[in-house]
Amino acid sequence: MNNLTNERPPAFRAVIAGTGSFAPEKLLTNDDLAKMVDTSDEWITTRTGIKVRHITNDDETTAFLAIEAAKRALEDANFDPKELELIIVATITSEMVFPSTASFVQRALRAKKAWVFDLAAACSGFIYGLSIVQQFIESGRLKNALVIGAETLTKITDWTERTSCVLFGDGAGAVVLQQSEDGRKGILYSTMASDGDYWQALNCQAYGSRYPADKPLDDPKKIYMQIKGREVYQQAVRRIVETVTNCFHACNLSVDDVSMLISHQMNARIIESAAKRLKFPKEKVFININEYGNTSAASVPIAFDDCRKKGKIKRGDIVIFVAFGAGLTWGANVIKF
Ligand code: ACO
Repeated sequence: MNNLTNERPPAFRAVIAGTGSFAPEKLLTNDDLAKMVDTSDEWITTRTGIKVRHITNDDETTAFLAIEAAKRALEDANFDPKELELIIVATITSEMVFPSTASFVQRALRAKKAWVFDLAAACSGFIYGLSIVQQFIESGRLKNALVIGAETLTKITDWTERTSCVLFGDGAGAVVLQQSEDGRKGILYSTMASDGDYWQALNCQAYGSRYPADKPLDDPKKIYMQIKGREVYQQAVRRIVETVTNCFHACNLSVDDVSMLISHQMNARIIESAAKRLKFPKEKVFININEYGNTSAASVPIAFDDCRKKGKIKRGDIVIFVAFGAGLTWGANVIKF
């Protein structure tokens, strides 16, 4: 586990200056899914908490979602994209093999000053992205950055497989980070971890160098996401509890000091079970998976933006972002907003 904290306060602080999110208009309800596979609204709701998810049409791509979320975050921050110094897009459903999705975002925003790249850490990608920006801003190397989580998971979903197709949705969320100029503390702490031994628990194997597009696949389903739900479930609860406990110790915080836990929305039962073990009261645990499904790297920034819009967070509040996903990867950021 890699913990980014400072013995001494950093010279500069990375604060969240604006947030934004975007999800496609088209909705897919549990009842819609029940017409496609052998499932029911009752099963999906009780096992996952999901009621509906947003899904892209053929013309809507990951970069399109990312750009829309980015525009909203820049507007919220009242920030000119021409001044951006870094753009990171966290995604596992990139626009194309290369160039990066971030290249398309840069082009659309005319953010010519920025250097840009994609970050593939699945559901933890946004958390990893914030921790990278934290380092650059605290060291004084950068004054600002845009971090986006954007996914079109429904484009790699096997719509005949009921154990996975009910779980995912599409969307994007973004934040503008800036060097603090008014004494605000922003990101207090980040922690990241990975365990590649569990790569088989969650993956999408084609197309890449192991299964190139010009060779026939031994199993045509390799173009879709494969998940071992039960294995992931147990690991997720354990790692979320461990990671948030680590944040409490590192920042000398207790549940009472934290206004909101913003978890990756993978399954309401996972979030509730972890929150219960951490002794978080229900009102401090934000859940919007019912409206979005699991949007992987987009999930935390969508949830944070949604939480703000619903008036549940104000300046000065301490929030914890936590995520867990394929890799395996997991991590958290503690933020004084
Ligand atoms: N509708 C109806 N029945 C279903 C469905 C469905 N959609 N899916 C599975 N079932 C059945 C199973 O076949 C099984 O039937 P059986 O008992 O006759 O064998 C039964 O329901 C129970 O299946 P479990 O897999 O044990 O169900 P569980 O309670 O574990 O819930 C779930 C499954 C929702 C997938 C849960 O394990 C989970 O949320 N896991 C983690 C989620 C996850 O992996 N997310 C992906 C993250 S990766 C990323 O974000 C990119």
